Amino acid sequence: MDRQTEIALIKEIIGLADQNSAFLDDTIAHSPIARYASPERFERERAMIFRRKPVIAAQSSELDGARAFLTKEFLGLPVLLTRDDAGKVHAFLNVCRHRGARLERNATGCKRVFTCPYHAWSWTNEGDLRGVPHEAQGFPDLPRAERGLRRLPAAEAHGFIWIIANPDAADMPDIDTWLAGLGDDLNWIGLADHRIAALEEIDIAANWKLLMEGGMEAYHFRVAHKHTIGPYFPDNLLTYTMFGPHMRAILPRISMPDLRAVPEDQWQIRRDANMVITLMTNTQLLVQQDHVMWFHFEPVSEALTHMRMATLVPRSAPETDEMQAHWDKNQKITVTALMEDFELGEEIQTGFASRGNPSHLFGRFEGALNRFNLTVEEMIAH
Ligand code: FES
Ligand SMILES: [Fe+2]
Repeated sequence: MDRQTEIALIKEIIGLADQNSAFLDDTIAHSPIARYASPERFERERAMIFRRKPVIAAQSSELDGARAFLTKEFLGLPVLLTRDDAGKVHAFLNVCRHRGARLERNATGCKRVFTCPYHAWSWTNEGDLRGVPHEAQGFPDLPRAERGLRRLPAAEAHGFIWIIANPDAADMPDIDTWLAGLGDDLNWIGLADHRIAALEEIDIAANWKLLMEGGMEAYHFRVAHKHTIGPYFPDNLLTYTMFGPHMRAILPRISMPDLRAVPEDQWQIRRDANMVITLMTNTQLLVQQDHVMWFHFEPVSEALTHMRMATLVPRSAPETDEMQAHWDKNQKITVTALMEDFELGEEIQTGFASRGNPSHLFGRFEGALNRFNLTVEEMIAH
């Protein structure tokens, strides 16, 4: 984010505070509940979005150093991520090319060669077939080049490992092109130089979009979060900007309107506002003053989402017990507030079966939710 944008956003928020209103879209919008409750709709989202577009599979520090590897079940696929001797990241299906056994059973580790536990075929961490026991007798003239590990397009950028969760996909697009300008903000935050200081994983019985929507409006803060974070934010004050399919929302703290009395050259948006960056397809970043919360959404079904919630901190921050206690405290505060949202999400999901609502309503100050849903509609249309 350049300085001009930072100042312009703060001025916009102060202007909105003067009018006592969040940024307003032109009209209210309807969001049909089939978007959140239909298995067919979910399958279409999985095929058209999560199996076709770049998804974040891990944070770079989870694959720290040459020869590190990571396995996970991700979007219904067994995935093996590796880092080669030159530091380059690769993604493969964690499936043996002989007769399909799970190639690597450990969750993490450090290896240059992966050996299948069934008949000991082996591959390098760059995916090349290395060894086939009794090859001459059993597999004469084996076309080795065709038996490399099935590769998934992968890239490392902004401190994350991005993949396309489909071995038939074409190459990974350039990530900064995909980010449609929002990459500048990620550079400004310095995300490439962050590591995970705290991490929790949890399954939430709600549609992934319901959970993401919670970070796109401040209408609920003073109500749903009245006993936790609500008092630190002005009532219903937020503005947002789209960057292609992605979004940056600014949620000012109560201190921001006080900047009126402070010289402009001292304004710092990260000190007086939270920023929620929604990266289609599966990521939200809550940018706070000295750290970033990473929310990773893995849609499992129309009514189930696996979440990872992590505190990302600059690698330059001291790794002392005192700092760790600070990060742990922050993680706890954020997760406690988030669980209030998730509980609501699960209740809403349960309510779908009652058919009480044919659609949800997005008010004019909930326009970001409509824009997000229209983006999803567009992605599944073609
Ligand atoms: S299934 Fe892996 S070596 Fe046979
Ligand atoms: Fe919330």
